[in-house]
Amino acid sequence: MTDGPLSEWEQHAAWWRREFSAGNDAEYDEQILPLVQAALPADGVVLDLGCGEGQVGRYVSDGRRHAVGLDVIRSQLESARAQDGCRYGQALIEVLPVATSSVDAVICSLVLEHVADLDAALDESARVLRSGGVLVVVMNHPLLQTPGSGWIDDQLVDPPEQYWRIGPYLREATSLEEVDAGVMLTFHHRPLGRYVNAAAVRGLRLERLDEPSPPPTHLREFWSFSGAESIPRLAVLTFRS
Ligand SMILES: C[S@@+](CC[C@H](N)C(=O)[O-])C[C@H]1O[C@@H](n2cnc3c(N)ncnc32)[C@H](O)[C@@H]1O
Repeated sequence: MTDGPLSEWEQHAAWWRREFSAGNDAEYDEQILPLVQAALPADGVVLDLGCGEGQVGRYVSDGRRHAVGLDVIRSQLESARAQDGCRYGQALIEVLPVATSSVDAVICSLVLEHVADLDAALDESARVLRSGGVLVVVMNHPLLQTPGSGWIDDQLVDPPEQYWRIGPYLREATSLEEVDAGVMLTFHHRPLGRYVNAAAVRGLRLERLDEPSPPPTHLREFWSFSGAESIPRLAVLTFRS
């Protein structure tokens, strides 16, 4: 049994698989998976950190790229192993059982904002990457998903206004958020520069930043606000070692 915030992932592993994998989430199918694939080198070993049930590593493994998934939650790893032939192991992102300079790429998909010790996680990613390797980080956009952000539908002003409110962006904060009925998860908010600068001091240079407009399915089903296509939910950062 894991302790603290990690036990949240144990408790909600089945919920995560049901809601966000196997084609059940438009953001994965229409954005995260294709963007990660496009950012990776064409071949080599790809370490998928906080791999969950393995959908990202599975998607990018094609005979030339070989994903190895690591996660701390046993039931996620069991689900991953039941679905494909990738290799999996149980490990904390902050202490990787992986040789130095041994992998061609590292993926962190919707993981770092749940990790308390960002510096340890980046130390380890930088250590295991070979020179010239790539780190791809997918995260909830730190500016637009700051705690306290969200759509405001103000019908008390004339004319009524709909706008996206941004919370206290520059303040690093840890919050427990209810992301679905009864599903509480811990998030660590940090400004975008904190990620970029922490990577830079470890020799990881930012090559590309993608801020995709929400996928059409999401706009149609959840965000039918005027201008909603101009508020990205995700940031995808590609670093080169
Ligand atoms: C939001 S899910 C993302 C899963 C997967 N990366 C994907 O995109 O489908 C976050 C995952 O990170 C894992 N995780 C969180 N903190 C971790 C840590 N410190 N070390 C290893 N895995 C961690 C959780 O167990 C969970 O499977």
